[in-house]
Amino acid sequence: MYPTATELPVRAYDNVNDSTKNAQQDAILSPRFYTTDFAKIDALKIKTEHQQMWDDILAEFRRDPNKNHFKRNEEFDADLSAMDPELREQFIEFLVSSVTAEFSGCILYAEIKKRIKNPEVRELFGFMSRDEGRHAGFINHTLNDFDVAVDLSFLTKAKKYTFFQPKFIYYATYLSEKIGYARYVTIFRNFEKQPDKRFHPIFKWFENWCLDEFRHGEAFAVLMRSNPELLEGRNKLWIRFFLLAVFCTMYVRDHARAPFFKHMGIDVDDYDRRVITLTNQISRQVFPDTVDTESEAFWALMDRMWRNTDAMRKAEAAGGFFSKVKVVLLKGANALTFVQLYLRPPHRQALPADVRMQPVW
Ligand SMILES: [Fe+2]
Ligand SMILES: [Fe+2]
Repeated sequence: MYPTATELPVRAYDNVNDSTKNAQQDAILSPRFYTTDFAKIDALKIKTEHQQMWDDILAEFRRDPNKNHFKRNEEFDADLSAMDPELREQFIEFLVSSVTAEFSGCILYAEIKKRIKNPEVRELFGFMSRDEGRHAGFINHTLNDFDVAVDLSFLTKAKKYTFFQPKFIYYATYLSEKIGYARYVTIFRNFEKQPDKRFHPIFKWFENWCLDEFRHGEAFAVLMRSNPELLEGRNKLWIRFFLLAVFCTMYVRDHARAPFFKHMGIDVDDYDRRVITLTNQISRQVFPDTVDTESEAFWALMDRMWRNTDAMRKAEAAGGFFSKVKVVLLKGANALTFVQLYLRPPHRQALPADVRMQPVW
C-alpha cells in the first residue's frame, strides 16, 4: 500500500535546511503574499456568450479529473543513492524551484478565495488552490525521498503584502499557467522519445499534471475575454510587458541550468524556443498583441540577455571594485536589451471567436 495523500510543504522543521533556504531565495522572485483590490475581482462578470464555456470549466473542476492522479507507486521506491551527485544536486534545485512556484500559486489562490464574495469566482479559486496544493505536495514528497523536503511555512507567515492590481494578477498568472503547461508537456514528450533518459518516475506524472495547468489558464482566459477592457487600450502595453518579462526570466533561468537539461537529453536552446513559442501562440486566445517569436532578431536579444546575466554572475563571484563596476554596466545593458525587445513590432491579430483551446501538444 502506497501513501495516497501527499503532505503540504508547510510543516515546521527544527533546522532550516538548504532546500528551504533556496526556496526562500526563490521566493524573492516568485509571488509571495499579494494584496489587491478584491472589490475589482468581485466585479468580474461573465458575458452571456461565454456563460456556457464558463459553466463547462467549472463543471470540469468539480469533476476533478486528476483527483486520483497524484498517487505514488512502487517506482518511487527506487534506490536514489546511486544517482550521479551532480545530477542529484541539479534535480533537487529543479524540484525546489518547482515546489516554490506551485505552492506560491496555492497560497495566492487561497488568499483570493478567502477575500472575495462572488460565489462562482470564489469556487474557481478554491479549485485552483486545491490543485496547486496537490502539485506542491507531490513534489515535496520526492524531495522528502532525498531527505530535503522544503518547509514553505515561511511563505504562509509572510507579514508583508505586496499590492498588485488585479489585472496584473490575471496577466501574470494566466501566463505562468500556460507556460507551466508548455514546460511540463515538452519535458514529458522528450522522455516519450528517449525513455532511457528518464531518470526519475515523477516525469511520468507530467502528462496529466500539465492538463491541470492548462485548465487553470483556460479559466483566466474566459475571465479576461468576458471583461474585454482588460485587453484594450493601454493595457495592451502592459500585456506585452508581462509576456516579455515571463519569457526573459525563463530563458535566463533555464540557460543557467543548461547542464541539468543536458542530463535529460534536452538542448536548452531548443527547449526554450519551443516552450516560449508555444506559450506565445496559445496566449493569442486572449492577448491581441503578442511577441514575434518568428524573428531571429528576437532570439538574438534573448541570448544577449542570458550572456549578460552569465557575465554578471561571474563578475559577482570574482568580487572587487572593477567587478562591481562591470556588474552595474551589465545591468544597464540588460535593461537596454529589454527595452529593445519591447520596442520590437508586436504580432497583432483579432481575437478568435472561440476562446477555448484544447491541450493538443
Ligand atoms: Fe500547478
Ligand atoms: Fe496551475
